[in-house]
Amino acid sequence: EKRHKVTVVGSGNWGSTIAKIVAENTKQHNDVFEEQVQMWVFEEEVVIPSDSNHYDAAIGDKPQKLTSIINQNHENVKYLPGISLPSNIVANPSLVDAVKDSSILIFNLPHQFIAKVCDQLRGHILPFARGISCIKGVNVTDDGVSLFSEWIGDGLNIYVGALSGANIASEIAAEKWSETTIAYDPPPMDNSRNPSPRSGSPNPGITVTDLQDLSHRDCRGRTSKTKLTGVPAEYPPLDHDCFRTLFHRPYFHVQMVSDVAGVSLGGALKNIVALAAGFVDGRGWGDNAKAAIMRIGLMEMVKFGKEFFGETVQSQTFTETSAGVADLITSSSGGRNFRCAKKAVEKGITVDAVEQQDLNGQKLQGTTTAYEVNSFLKARGLEKEYPLFTAVNDILRNKRQVDDIPNLVAQVTDGA
Ligand code: NAD
Ligand code: 13P
Repeated sequence: EKRHKVTVVGSGNWGSTIAKIVAENTKQHNDVFEEQVQMWVFEEEVVIPSDSNHYDAAIGDKPQKLTSIINQNHENVKYLPGISLPSNIVANPSLVDAVKDSSILIFNLPHQFIAKVCDQLRGHILPFARGISCIKGVNVTDDGVSLFSEWIGDGLNIYVGALSGANIASEIAAEKWSETTIAYDPPPMDNSRNPSPRSGSPNPGITVTDLQDLSHRDCRGRTSKTKLTGVPAEYPPLDHDCFRTLFHRPYFHVQMVSDVAGVSLGGALKNIVALAAGFVDGRGWGDNAKAAIMRIGLMEMVKFGKEFFGETVQSQTFTETSAGVADLITSSSGGRNFRCAKKAVEKGITVDAVEQQDLNGQKLQGTTTAYEVNSFLKARGLEKEYPLFTAVNDILRNKRQVDDIPNLVAQVTDGA
């Protein structure tokens, strides 16, 4: 019997934290997973800070490869400093080598880099691999808006689900309790070694020897253009149990659901709202204003989901799961988008400038998501239907002020 090999594609603040979680579980469940976890690292030269435990006076300020630092010291000193990583994580600067023979691919990098990474991966992954996207963002093109889970899946010809939740990485890396939501809804044959497809399945009567070109439904209820290859029978099934086992920890509680669109949109759109929460907090307006922003933001998130992914999205995913309202609250309280937006208003500088100054290479997702969602809405004449999303875009572009927010959202607050 084969075991699943796992690769984490990405090694930032959240990428490294997820690699830690997964590596703890592959070690504990080495009957299902290979113990060693590959982590692809975008290679860079890094100076170990003098206050780090791994500072070596003999090396001093000489830059070293981040992969070497991680493999020798089991710490990502740049993106997750102060956290010990399990020794079964291997930091790999080669994307193609890191994914070789892996049946589980976890995509965890800022959304602005995923297109290039997928280009490099094409043709180098197992055809029956399955993925989980931890990326919080949406992919907007002239054709419309799509989820990264689907976009990656279509590009690589594999099925990809989504993980998202109220998950500030530094807290989880310190093993402080949190919840998360994983949405995974693959074709039925993945769920059993002797598949008996759900009624209405596009793959009636499929057998384990007939594993090519399987159709499945996408997040708009259409038959996906991606034709999947089934998971061979000698592997443990890649089902909800398998992914729960891979991600669940005593300090990281996993809820498995099937609403990939709701989970993905929750993680992406709350970043726009968190910027707005930072704006009003930076303006000194207090908790009532911030709560109003979260309420209006949640309404726009649900509306967006229903309007553009209505065939599969469930309102409860926004209102009841960690990927919805809980992530909105935590991100609007202590996330990077919130903190940078708040400081930008306090200091009278741009959010981009705060990101550059304060984040040491970490990347905000909210600013690009606000621009991308705005261009999508604008092209459809829908800016006024989403007044908070539009206000955030306009404030970032210096076309509006924070003081304009109450009037801009008045149609939602008092029906004006
Ligand atoms: P991060 O903000 O720490 O980003 C830095 C990462 O980008 C580093 O790994 C860096 O090596 C990489 N990078 C820089 N330039 C690159 C390039 N040209 N090509 C490829 N990679 C490059 O990253 P993160 O926090 O791990 O975020 C990944 C995703 O996880 C994001 O979508 C984010 O919204 C989401 N997320 C983050 C948190 C959090 O608390 N950090 C929590 C939940 C979800
Ligand atoms: P930030 O990227 O704003 O820090 O949000 C982190 C997050 O997604 C928490 O769930």
